Amino acid sequence: MAGIFEQLGYLYNPNPNTSDVVLLNTCAIRENAENRIWGVLGNLKEPKRNNKEMIIGICGCMPQEEHVVDRLLEKYREIDLVFGTHNIYRLPEFLYEITTKRNKVVEVLSFEGAIIENLPKVRANEHKAWINIMYGCDEFCTYCIVPYTRGKERSRHKDDIISEVKCLVQRGYKEITLLGQNVNAYGKDLGIDYTFGDLLRDLDATGIARIHFTTSHPRDLDLKTIIAMGECKSVMPNLHLPVQSGDNEVLKRMNRKYTHEEYVEKINLLRKYIPDISITTDIIVAFPGETEEQFVHTLELVEEVGFEGAFTFIYSPREGTPAATYPNPLTEEEKHERLNRLVEKTNEGYLKGHQRFLGRVVKVLVDGPSKNNPNLMTGYSEHRKVVNFIPANANVGDIVNVRITEAKTWFMNGEQIDE
Ligand code: 5AD
Ligand code: SF4
Repeated sequence: MAGIFEQLGYLYNPNPNTSDVVLLNTCAIRENAENRIWGVLGNLKEPKRNNKEMIIGICGCMPQEEHVVDRLLEKYREIDLVFGTHNIYRLPEFLYEITTKRNKVVEVLSFEGAIIENLPKVRANEHKAWINIMYGCDEFCTYCIVPYTRGKERSRHKDDIISEVKCLVQRGYKEITLLGQNVNAYGKDLGIDYTFGDLLRDLDATGIARIHFTTSHPRDLDLKTIIAMGECKSVMPNLHLPVQSGDNEVLKRMNRKYTHEEYVEKINLLRKYIPDISITTDIIVAFPGETEEQFVHTLELVEEVGFEGAFTFIYSPREGTPAATYPNPLTEEEKHERLNRLVEKTNEGYLKGHQRFLGRVVKVLVDGPSKNNPNLMTGYSEHRKVVNFIPANANVGDIVNVRITEAKTWFMNGEQIDE
C-alpha cells in the first residue's frame, strides 16, 4: 500500500495529525491489537475536526470482521474509507472516489479473488526483503481468526516468486523472508506437483545469500522441506515452529492436528538434517479449559525441546471462532501467573541459545549502528540471533565474521574478525 501511495505521488508523513490521508492497516489476531486501533481512531477525531479534508481509512484484518464494520460505521463517523484484505489493489480507485466526490467508501469482500501481481512496492531495507509466497490459511485452529479474515490458502505462482527474488539479487539484496500463514502448505492449492521444498531449492539457486521463512505449521512441515533446508546453503539454520501447547488434549481442542510426541519427532528430524538448528515457537496459555496439569505439560515440552525463543500469549477470545464459545473459568490473575511462569522458562532458552555460541565465529548480516552504542554495529546471525559487535570494516548489508565474546538473554556481543 505504501508502494501504491508512492506511485500516486503521495509523500510519507510520520505524523498522522498533519497528514492528508491516514490509513490504519489493522491486525485482528488478539483483542489487544484491536484495542490499540480503537484508541488510535479515538485520537484521530480531533485532527479530523480541525482538517475536514483529511481522509481517514481503515483496512486489513479488522474490517473483515462484520461486528467491527458495524461498530466503525456507527461510532466513528469521521472514517472515510473501509476496506479489507482482498481488495488492496483497488486503493487508487477508493482514493479517487473520496477525493473527487467526498463519498464514504466501504468495500469489504468475503471472497478472496485472484492474486494481483506486480503492485508497486516500497521496501523498508536495501539488503533484506519480505516476500509473500501465499495468502490465507485453511487450518482453522479453533482459537484463530486468520482463516476468516484472510480467506483460503492461495499460493503465488512459483515463476512470479523466483523472478522477484532474482531481481532482488541483482539489486544487491542479501536476505529474503518468505511469508505466509502456513508456508508449508505452499503450492498445494495450485494442483501442480511443486511444494515448499521445491521452492526452497529454486530460490537457493537464484544466488540469494540467505533465505528465511515464516510461519510453519508442524503438521505440514514435511521431510522434503527438512531435507531441502539441510541441503540448501542459503536456507538459514533456524525455524520458527509454533507449538501452541504441550498437552495432547488441549492440542486436540485447538484443532492443531498433531500430538506432543509428533511435534517432538519433527524436532528430532530437523536436528538430524540440520544439526545446529535453533528453534523458536509460539505458545498460548490459558486456552479455555486448560488445567494446571495441562499447562505443566507445556512447560515440560519447552524444556524437552530447548526452544531458543518464544512468543507467548494469553488466549484471547475472537468472536466467530469455535473456542470463543468454550467456557474459560480462569481468573485474569491465574492467566497472568501462567504466562509469567512460562516466560521465565522461555527466557532461560533465549540465554542458553546465545551461550552456545560463546567463542564461536558467526556470520552476521549488518543492519547498521547499534542504537545504544554508535561505536558498535548490529545485525542478525544465521541462527537469527541479534549480534552487537565492534566493527572492522562493516557496512550495512555486508555479511561479516564475528567472534562471540558475551552472551546475554536478548543479544550477543562480539568483535568482527575480518581484515
Ligand atoms: N489468542 C491468543 N493467541 C493467539 N494466536 C492466534 N490466535 C490467538 C488467540 N485467539 C497466537 C498463536 C499464533 C500467533 C501468531 O498468535 O500463537 O501462532
Ligand atoms: Fe491461525 Fe496459524 Fe492456525 Fe492458520 S495455522 S488457523 S494462521 S494459528
